[in-house]
Amino acid sequence: MEYKKDDLITLVIGDMGIDGEGIGKIDGFTFFVKDAVIGDEIEAKVLKVKKGYAYARMTNLITPSMERTEPKCRYHKQCGGCQIQALKYERQMLFKTEKVKNNMQRIGGFSRALLDKIMEPIVGMNTFGQTPYYYRNKAQFPIGADKYGEIITGFYAGRTHVIIPNTDCALGIAENKIILEAVIKYMKENKITPYNEKTGKGLVRHVLVRKGFATGEIMTCVIVNGDRLPHQEKLIEALAEIEGMTSVFLNSNRAKTNVILGDDCRLIWGKNTITDIIGGIRFMISPLSFYQVNPVQTERLYGLALEYAGLTGNEVVCDLYCGIGTISLFMSKKAKRVYGVEIVEQAIEDARKNAVRNQIDNAEFYAGKAEEVLPRLYEEKGLKADVICVDPPRKGCDEECLATMIKMAPERIVYVSCDSATLARDLKYLCANGYRLERIRPVDMFPHTVHVEVACCLQRKDS
Ligand SMILES: C[S@@+](CC[C@H](N)C(=O)[O-])C[C@H]1O[C@@H](n2cnc3c(N)ncnc32)[C@H](O)[C@@H]1O
Repeated sequence: MEYKKDDLITLVIGDMGIDGEGIGKIDGFTFFVKDAVIGDEIEAKVLKVKKGYAYARMTNLITPSMERTEPKCRYHKQCGGCQIQALKYERQMLFKTEKVKNNMQRIGGFSRALLDKIMEPIVGMNTFGQTPYYYRNKAQFPIGADKYGEIITGFYAGRTHVIIPNTDCALGIAENKIILEAVIKYMKENKITPYNEKTGKGLVRHVLVRKGFATGEIMTCVIVNGDRLPHQEKLIEALAEIEGMTSVFLNSNRAKTNVILGDDCRLIWGKNTITDIIGGIRFMISPLSFYQVNPVQTERLYGLALEYAGLTGNEVVCDLYCGIGTISLFMSKKAKRVYGVEIVEQAIEDARKNAVRNQIDNAEFYAGKAEEVLPRLYEEKGLKADVICVDPPRKGCDEECLATMIKMAPERIVYVSCDSATLARDLKYLCANGYRLERIRPVDMFPHTVHVEVACCLQRKDS
């Protein structure tokens, strides 16, 4: 049968795509339906027909799937953040495990039989009874205006820059709402304009909030299209009253860009960093430094990386893409020496201070691109490593970095990744060049979203 826009169809959702969308078939013709859950019987309206498949919008949920659950957030369908909040948490774990296996097979070329044998069960957030909500220690809220000119804040609707007003995200901390209300009140009382992305005019663009879960310390960073905030003392006064607030920053970003933070970040009240504690190590965190967003799961992830590294106390470890030195310092306690490499200078400054603060003297940190610093350390300084750990951003490792790792021939490579597609690509390269994938385990760092973290252990074949 030929389908066309606006046709009404009835179908059963038999699968889910990588972005959490429901997938159903009618006589071999595939439909992708946002917000439909595996097992749903639905009525849908066809939106767009392509060759062999179509997109449709659910118009009626005829028989809800047994895998459905009541989402906590009433905006979950509009907001781009939680794509699978309507799916039972246990089923989310299965979805993520399958996503990783599929990428390993399709992109990495690993056999299903091998993956079934070596892949360990996903580490869910409910493993020790924690609730998979309110886990995020960081959130960035866009500030804008609604059609009546009222200042609003919330989240971008999926794949757009339309702000859905909501200060009460079910993944974030309770203080977010209090902070955002204080910022908006201050803006209204002092006639401060919200930024308009289309015109590039207006002052306040975003509010970033970060909390150290172990210490309760909170940092607020107001991002402005300018370099000052009129009557900033009034905002400081309001924010300083909020329990846990220890730092207020002003970040200047005048660029017409989607990038939230500019390079210029000025402390306007309180301390330069907030502190969090993971695995007994105290970490100081600056506004521009990367820090994992789910501290409960981070401890498990780092524990897994440490286990995969198989350290006995005699090893030299390289921790590439090290951020503020989290994995490096975790490993330093069981290693002879650790070398951390990271592109953000501020993060490296934090890493060095974190080492001193924790009385760790066997860790050294280098600022620069891993693909440039590692070849220098190897070729000019003759650095040898027994274990190399990498934890790159979504795009994965640069090929120059992978090639140098191969030349250095460590006994083990520990790969931590937040994107199983680029992970699979890089593992294929490493396994074609002398390494064997020994262990692999997904960790759910981002419940209710389609994202999943993965830790892997590779062993040198000739060792
Ligand atoms: C996923 S984070 C991991 C950070 C750290 N391992 C942690 O768990 O907190 C990736 C880090 O890689 C850094 N980065 C991005 N590109 C890089 C590059 N080419 N060389 C070195 N570091 C880079 C980012 O700034 C970020 O801190």
